Amino acid sequence: MAKMDKGYVNELLQAQAHVWNHIFNFINSMSLKCSVDLGIPDAIHNHGKPMTVTELVAALPTLDRTKAGNIYRLMRILVHSGFFGVEEDGYVLTSASRLLLKDDPLSMVPFVESMLDPMLTKPWDFLGIWFESNDRSPFDTAYGKSFWDYDFPATKLDNLMKEGLARDSRLVASVLIDRCRGMFEGLNSLVDVGGSTGTVGKAIADAFPHLECTVFDLPQTVAALQDTGNLKYVGGNMFEQVPPADAVLLKWVLCDWNDEECLKILKQCRKAVKEGGKVIIVDLVLIKNEKADDEASNLIETQLLFDIMVTMVLVGGKERGEEEWAKLFSASGFSRYEIAPVLGMRSVIEVYP
Ligand SMILES: C[S@@+](CC[C@H](N)C(=O)[O-])C[C@H]1O[C@@H](n2cnc3c(N)ncnc32)[C@H](O)[C@@H]1O
Repeated sequence: MAKMDKGYVNELLQAQAHVWNHIFNFINSMSLKCSVDLGIPDAIHNHGKPMTVTELVAALPTLDRTKAGNIYRLMRILVHSGFFGVEEDGYVLTSASRLLLKDDPLSMVPFVESMLDPMLTKPWDFLGIWFESNDRSPFDTAYGKSFWDYDFPATKLDNLMKEGLARDSRLVASVLIDRCRGMFEGLNSLVDVGGSTGTVGKAIADAFPHLECTVFDLPQTVAALQDTGNLKYVGGNMFEQVPPADAVLLKWVLCDWNDEECLKILKQCRKAVKEGGKVIIVDLVLIKNEKADDEASNLIETQLLFDIMVTMVLVGGKERGEEEWAKLFSASGFSRYEIAPVLGMRSVIEVYP
């Protein structure tokens, strides 16, 4: 090989490290899942003070003792990625690993266990084949049917995914109720379209007892759920009809569908909104690179990962930037919208007829 310029060699070595980093990036996800499988966040939490590696090893009941010497290696990468801190030679939780405690009401454990289950990572092996096919998503390519048609109730993933959404909904509902209270002023009725088992609907119904709340979802999702007080469940198909209300809420629904499908849903919502009402959307608004401050640029990568994992690979929908949202709103008969980026990587969009 010809003698290379020193600057060029350094650049080449950095490029090589960058490629290595991305080849092995899945290890961050798998180490995270492994720590949850082993119960490491709960063990450190229960210890109540910085926990040495010896104490941690002793507190993991399922650990094979011959692997005890490897736990510090797993912890080293998880400390590096911000899941644990080190104080006085012991491990402590960080705000990220506090979300990995199994019994925490906001726990993200069901998300970790479902999204990293081999059943939902398998479609990644089909990504290239999908690009060369006319299938809706790599999930369809892997399993021969769409995510919505798959018999999840027959798998352990059904509960995990529902529980993951429900725990996320608790956090979102409390932000909506505490920080966006004004959004509910003047409303007498609200329908949560694609509201699943009603975590958000119930929280809103409890916080605003004068509000008639309806959770609207597929008949099989709401069939066994009981109406209570000012909350009722209605089964149906949002592509065909949405129950009328002053406000129509769509949380994490439109990202599951392509533009043509979103237009159909939004047109039904437009018809359902009563005089003086609005649609409230909780979803991602992709941040533009050039607009990003430090905090926002950290969110961009998460938004892009979400766009690929959940919406492209699993359900075949898409995440949208403001211009794409604006086009959808005007094409479905709405006159104006307001975006409030109050939910971390997601926003609340109020859309008016
Ligand atoms: C990603 S989940 C979001 C659930 C809930 N909004 C949340 O954020 O926790 C999408 C929801 O849309 C519902 N859904 C899918 N197709 C639907 C349809 N045609 N009509 C009504 N709901 C539908 C699903 O059953 C599911 O509960």
